[in-house]
Amino acid sequence: MSVTEVARHLKTARHVVIFTGAGASTESGIPTFRDALTGLWEHFDASRLATAEAFRADPSLCWGWYEWRRHKVIQAQPNAAHVAIAELARHVPRLTVVTQNVDNLHERAGSQAVIHLHGSLHSPRCIDCGVAHQAPLSIDVLPGAGARIEPPRCTMCEGLVRPGVVWFGETLPEGPWSDALAAAEACDLFVSIGTSGVVYPAAELPLRAHGRGATVVHINPDRVEVRNQEFFLEGKASDVMTALVNEAFGALLSPRS
Ligand code: OAD
Repeated sequence: MSVTEVARHLKTARHVVIFTGAGASTESGIPTFRDALTGLWEHFDASRLATAEAFRADPSLCWGWYEWRRHKVIQAQPNAAHVAIAELARHVPRLTVVTQNVDNLHERAGSQAVIHLHGSLHSPRCIDCGVAHQAPLSIDVLPGAGARIEPPRCTMCEGLVRPGVVWFGETLPEGPWSDALAAAEACDLFVSIGTSGVVYPAAELPLRAHGRGATVVHINPDRVEVRNQEFFLEGKASDVMTALVNEAFGALLSPRS
């Protein structure tokens, strides 16, 4: 399917789901997880950083790594893909944005009610009692990737404060997951952008959408596995999303926002 054909679907769709992965943020300078050479899991050991056991074993290593990632996001700007997705909401009857990303770049570009399936770097909570950590975290010093930083303590129970992201072995937050599933099953166009589609249950969403009759389109510069009757647009998120929104709605977005 070409940009023109997907743009035609966009124009007539009643409910569009945009589903993003790390590839949607990489043009903002946020690394993906699995790209050869640049992916986070190429350089860091997930088993030492992205499980509850790892955090309890070495809280300051783990907290320091997530602080490094949070600071990178603070310093980054939304890219043209985030901007085009926010613009899309002004043109289609209903848009649901579902992301696997733990940054806040969709919101900073203007998207509202974003469903975060894998949590957020910006909403830490107590590992013991689960209460949200309200005190602001530092915004001024960019730690190195391997810096050890003591996590704060919970003001309610003195437990350690952990990053608000979903770790390996943990279930997805219930509300976001059921909202995402409901949107996938109700939409007529499902656009998946910049994800390798290997992490479940998130990767199930395009299947659910397709199973209920939605048109499913994948956008990626690398060929990803596309099942029968799903479509693929090859290219970077910023280029393809800008072209789609411009072509469908005559918007005047630039791919280099
Ligand atoms: P991955 O790193 O697995 O995949 C990123 C995808 O983005 C790849 O398919 C790339 O080809 C593609 N990509 C790279 N540059 C792009 C660009 N400019 N435009 C569009 N696409 C581009 O990241 P995710 O699929 O998001 O989990 O990973 C899923 C989950 O695995 C993450 O949410 C994280 C990780 O472990 C948690 O944090 C729980």
